[in-house]
Amino acid sequence: KVIVIDFGGQYNQLVARRVRECNVYCEIYSYRTPLEQIKEMNPKGIILTGGPNSCYEEGAPTYTKELFELGIPVLGLCYGAQLMMHVLGGKVEKAPVREYGKTETFIDGASDTLFAGVEKSTIVWMSHFDYISKVAPGFEIIAHTADCPVAASACEAKKLYAIQFHPEVLHTVQGKDILFNFVRNICGTAGTWRMDSFVEQTIGEIRERVGSGKVLLALSGGVDSSVLAALLAKAIGKQLTCVFVDHGLLRKNEGDEVEGVFGPAGSFDINFIRVNAADRYYAKLAGVEEPEQKRKIIGEEFIRVFEEEAKKIGTVDFLAQGTIYPDVVESGLGGESVVIKSHHNVGGLPDYVDFKEIIEPLRNLFKDEVRKVGLELGLPEYLVFRQPFPGPGLGIRIIGEVTAEKVRIVQDADYIYRTELAEAGLEKLPDQYFAALSNMRSVGVMGDERTYDYAVVLRAVETVDFMTAEASEIPFEVLQRVMSRIINEVKGVNRVMYDLTSKPPGTVELE
Ligand code: XMP
Repeated sequence: KVIVIDFGGQYNQLVARRVRECNVYCEIYSYRTPLEQIKEMNPKGIILTGGPNSCYEEGAPTYTKELFELGIPVLGLCYGAQLMMHVLGGKVEKAPVREYGKTETFIDGASDTLFAGVEKSTIVWMSHFDYISKVAPGFEIIAHTADCPVAASACEAKKLYAIQFHPEVLHTVQGKDILFNFVRNICGTAGTWRMDSFVEQTIGEIRERVGSGKVLLALSGGVDSSVLAALLAKAIGKQLTCVFVDHGLLRKNEGDEVEGVFGPAGSFDINFIRVNAADRYYAKLAGVEEPEQKRKIIGEEFIRVFEEEAKKIGTVDFLAQGTIYPDVVESGLGGESVVIKSHHNVGGLPDYVDFKEIIEPLRNLFKDEVRKVGLELGLPEYLVFRQPFPGPGLGIRIIGEVTAEKVRIVQDADYIYRTELAEAGLEKLPDQYFAALSNMRSVGVMGDERTYDYAVVLRAVETVDFMTAEASEIPFEVLQRVMSRIINEVKGVNRVMYDLTSKPPGTVELE
């Protein structure tokens, strides 16, 4: 495998995903990981990510010089490149010109290893305010730009490479080729990491570990838990029990869709239990307006309902969890970011169910890999490519108090919005889009009558990682069609608004 050492760059997961796209398995570790541990892993290659600091400043994240003396190829990206130069005796300082965005880069000299097949003049993605003003001894410059004398440098003899730009970002036109050259050719990996072999191998591992034991899974209907259910179903069939809690805050028809796939009418031979708990949730949520309070109630009620079902089932051997790699990485870096919203489905182990061990077969996969596994296992595409849906569901898409009536309004409006977008023939659907119910009521006129009804908010965003997002540019005529259908078809709504806010300062959800 190849390992990525994370210096806090915003693209760290992207780097790892790109490596896996070269069919090479790859994991991310913090720069605080001791050298001994890295040596034990015996990686075929090491990639150092970007990061927000200046490597020459006191207290900046760094790594010991010995990392570059292991005889393992190292590729430094952006901050990682500067750090490599800094540690090995080059010079890094504040650049006279800050480079940001697509930048024309010229390949110098003859790097027929890292830049094999790369055009002499190529567009790359730059984002830096420091630059390498002098390369370390033994390195030669292999690329430059108008403002950056060392866009890339290499010490071929030791297989050390430093590049100032970001090959992992798609704006770097030949970024994939560069990463491929490094991880496959320079590191000499075999390139055997594939999803079909993952499925086969994991099914074998699950069978071996579970034996004749019983496994319990809380199925939400989201991508991760659905793929996990399908994988476990294939591995152990009826030894699996899935509990699906319908909290009455799902999208329109969603509960029935989940039951259709995993219930008795579906194609998996498992025990499927659907709990219709809408009334319980609505009762608990009555009169509650504060978003975090709502999240807490929804989270706790889930635990209670699940616990009751688990009691009926009795002791199980394994509790299955749909943890995926980004959850692992993000929780590993915990403590460095502030909690803006508490995402109750990530975090602590449930201590409310009687089980012996946790099983997390998707723990090493990125989201797009989980999707590939889902398709491999024959799950329907609408399920596998489902957009993210928050654990608290429509509870946080209804501003203020949640009532059955408001849930109906937001479900119907959202359904129309989704249907119209699907039929609009857009080149690409937004990364996340939904209708929310503002708590605002306003005056309107319908026929000759005065109305005093709710305003629905339409949201749609483009994003890579949901940490930042931009509002999607949905064609105006599509929005108009959605608006007119919602007002005509959804009782209780007389106004439709489109949310233009980016994140930050907004968030994707309204609560
Ligand atoms: P925000 O609103 O924080 O959303 O910009 C970023 C992504 O996270 C999802 N989200 C949640 N997911 N529980 C979840 O499981 C939550 O409480 C929650 N709040 C937001 C949101 O849908 C978006 O994809």
